[in-house]
Amino acid sequence: MKAHSYGTLNPSLLAALTSIVGPQNVVVDKQRMEAYAHDETSREEYGHLPDVVLTPNTTEQIASIMRIAHASRIPVTPRGAGSGLSGGAIPVYGGIVLSVEKMNRILEIDEANLTVTAEAGIVTNELNERLKSYGLFFAGYPMSLETCFLGGNIAENAGGGKAVKYGVTSRYILGLEVVTPQGEVLQLGGKVVKDVSGYDVKSLYIGSEGTLGVITKATIRLLGMPKIASDLLIPFASAQQAISVVPQIMKLGIIPTSIEFMDRISIEMSCSYLNEQLPLDGVGAMLLIEIDGTDEQLVERQLVQVGDLCSEKGALEVYVAEDATNRERIWSVRRNIAEAIKVYSPVQSLEDVVVPIGSIPLVLPKLEYLSRKYDVSIPCYGHAGDGNLHATVIKNPESSKESWLEMEPKILAELYAFVVGELGGKISGEHGIGCKRKRYLKALTGASEYALFKTVKQALDPYGIMNPGKILDEE
Ligand code: LAC
Ligand code: ZN
Repeated sequence: MKAHSYGTLNPSLLAALTSIVGPQNVVVDKQRMEAYAHDETSREEYGHLPDVVLTPNTTEQIASIMRIAHASRIPVTPRGAGSGLSGGAIPVYGGIVLSVEKMNRILEIDEANLTVTAEAGIVTNELNERLKSYGLFFAGYPMSLETCFLGGNIAENAGGGKAVKYGVTSRYILGLEVVTPQGEVLQLGGKVVKDVSGYDVKSLYIGSEGTLGVITKATIRLLGMPKIASDLLIPFASAQQAISVVPQIMKLGIIPTSIEFMDRISIEMSCSYLNEQLPLDGVGAMLLIEIDGTDEQLVERQLVQVGDLCSEKGALEVYVAEDATNRERIWSVRRNIAEAIKVYSPVQSLEDVVVPIGSIPLVLPKLEYLSRKYDVSIPCYGHAGDGNLHATVIKNPESSKESWLEMEPKILAELYAFVVGELGGKISGEHGIGCKRKRYLKALTGASEYALFKTVKQALDPYGIMNPGKILDEE
């Protein structure tokens, strides 16, 4: 049941929309629209076709589209690269998919103010490629940097592999251009690093998953590129041993760039997918730890300190990767785990729980318990230094699809209740709620806080046309 009733996209509305963007930016062919009916969430049940896909070129066009959609109560689902993992870009009630794929320009690189201003549809990695020659970089990007779009990163407040040191996307968004559900264009923030001038509306949009407006442009704070970066790849005999070292590394007084965890199955799947090999004799899990900086000797000393601590705590080996080729080989294994597991085990649920760092050793025993109780495999990897783990619940190949569909929500409910109720964590650290987790969010959020979520949504989008069916469970 929908919370709002929506209008239908009749031929005259379609003609009006076409006159805004031009026929070359309108897709109504079902086969072509199929690509816009899904994101990377692994479950065909989540897919839904839109009535039309629009690929506007300008903010003004988006504002005009929103005015029409608002007047006629047509759902609008903003879309970036479709690399999301919670169904955020799926048009679950049909209507318009508003893809920003053609809005991919870098508008300004401002060296004096250390900012870049770009449109929402730029591939995140392209920003950093362009910034290289300036000695600058955008630190707030996720693991999918080669495919994801800036706008999606902001809408989901993406995390990624460098958040231990550099934080998540929101830390870098100084300015934001947003089109409201009513078709007004807001310029929020700017190039200033401090701002207490009125409500912090910009932050409300960051991580709002396209449910409050369409992000069209952003001004990003840049950092000077660290001159040196090296990685440690540290195998342990057991996953529990590896993960238990993480809070102790954080106490060394060093801030590594990344502390990633990968259990054996995750490594094996990714290696096999990439046709890559890592030494896995007797290995239960590995930590991948990056340290960067400007002082070579300091980075060297910090690598030794972290390596020594891990050896003391039972590491089987401490491999150091300093050259670009080896570093990329290892990181490629890490970055491709999600894709590899999906290829080998397409019926699955990729999870994204986050807990306070001290509690991270308590997550794996719970996953083992759930794995035994429900007879499923749950490989686990992720951003251990942030307390953020990607447990992937995989359907047992021998069980039926029906029993999986019945079991999956039970496993998730149990996992989430433990993470939130017992560990003070959250059900998603970076992938978001989307349509996938909305009922769990409702169940695990305090009634007053949840009511406030709804008040915000109602105030900004009274007709509920902006990415309906996401975050809030109105059913
Ligand atoms: C990763 C994605 C799945 O960390 O968030 O690989
Ligand atoms: Zn991740």
